[in-house]
Amino acid sequence: MRESCDLGLSGVSQTLLVPLAARALARRLFPAAGFADVAAERAMETLGIEPTSVISDPLSILGFIIRSRLLDRLTKRFLAEHENAVVLDLGAGFSTAFERCGASDATWIEVDLPAVTELHRRVVPADARRRRIAASLETTDWLVALELPDAPTLVIAEGVLPYLSRPAIVSLFRALADRLCGRTSVLLYDTFSFLMVGTARYHPAIGRLTRKDPTIEFRSGVRTRADFIWGEPRWHLDEIHDVLAQQPPPVALWSGIVDATFGVPLYCVVQLHLDAPAPGE
Ligand SMILES: C[S@@+](CC[C@H](N)C(=O)[O-])C[C@H]1O[C@@H](n2cnc3c(N)ncnc32)[C@H](O)[C@@H]1O
Repeated sequence: MRESCDLGLSGVSQTLLVPLAARALARRLFPAAGFADVAAERAMETLGIEPTSVISDPLSILGFIIRSRLLDRLTKRFLAEHENAVVLDLGAGFSTAFERCGASDATWIEVDLPAVTELHRRVVPADARRRRIAASLETTDWLVALELPDAPTLVIAEGVLPYLSRPAIVSLFRALADRLCGRTSVLLYDTFSFLMVGTARYHPAIGRLTRKDPTIEFRSGVRTRADFIWGEPRWHLDEIHDVLAQQPPPVALWSGIVDATFGVPLYCVVQLHLDAPAPGE
């Protein structure tokens, strides 16, 4: 079996194989879930990795499928409402959202660390509508320098914010608001509750990686609903989708208890929008 280190990946970048493998298993293990990811199946084959060697816990696999299915629905809605849109996919890893949702008129910009960007370039065929940027989300200079078509913009951060510290997310949300102000902008991301911070080693799928490399950790989570905008008042909360509420009853019940007790779900997908452009802009 090939390991992530054989692919030139280290640290948090190794986590990209986990959601990719889960999506690649969707058709095989959860044919009734209404989600298929042929591009993920192909990528795992090209990488020479059997998906079940990366993730085997059925509830975790289903969790990743539910997350991507939710994000696909919200992404397709934005792309249907906005022609010639831009999608800025942060911590894109081997995201296959482009293959699943990429409307023919949308421009897709994917940001990840240099080793990931290089591996993706070697494995996934190039597409004129898709650009990869090698940068760390812990800095924002790349965003200031980024050439961004002047168009409605959807930012997606799938499976990445939990690995960033709160100060890094606060700074990223501010920089996104600065860069995108004046255009129609929506931001989709997933986040844990604060209860999950520091618990990566117990996660059924990520735990194996964390125990080998303790730099991989869940560093951030929300404590109250006000936290969903990460301190940046130009972002406004539209929707919260409890990912675990869509799991089988014992997990869904547990998730409901956490939400009722603490006021935020244990794990959710969130949609924010930026202040509307001023009239005439
Ligand atoms: C769990 S994977 C998710 C990948 C993809 N979004 C998906 O859902 O399939 C996390 C990704 O975030 C990237 N990442 C983590 N920290 C990052 C940082 N500081 N800057 C850029 N990318 C980062 C990792 O390299 C990895 O590709």
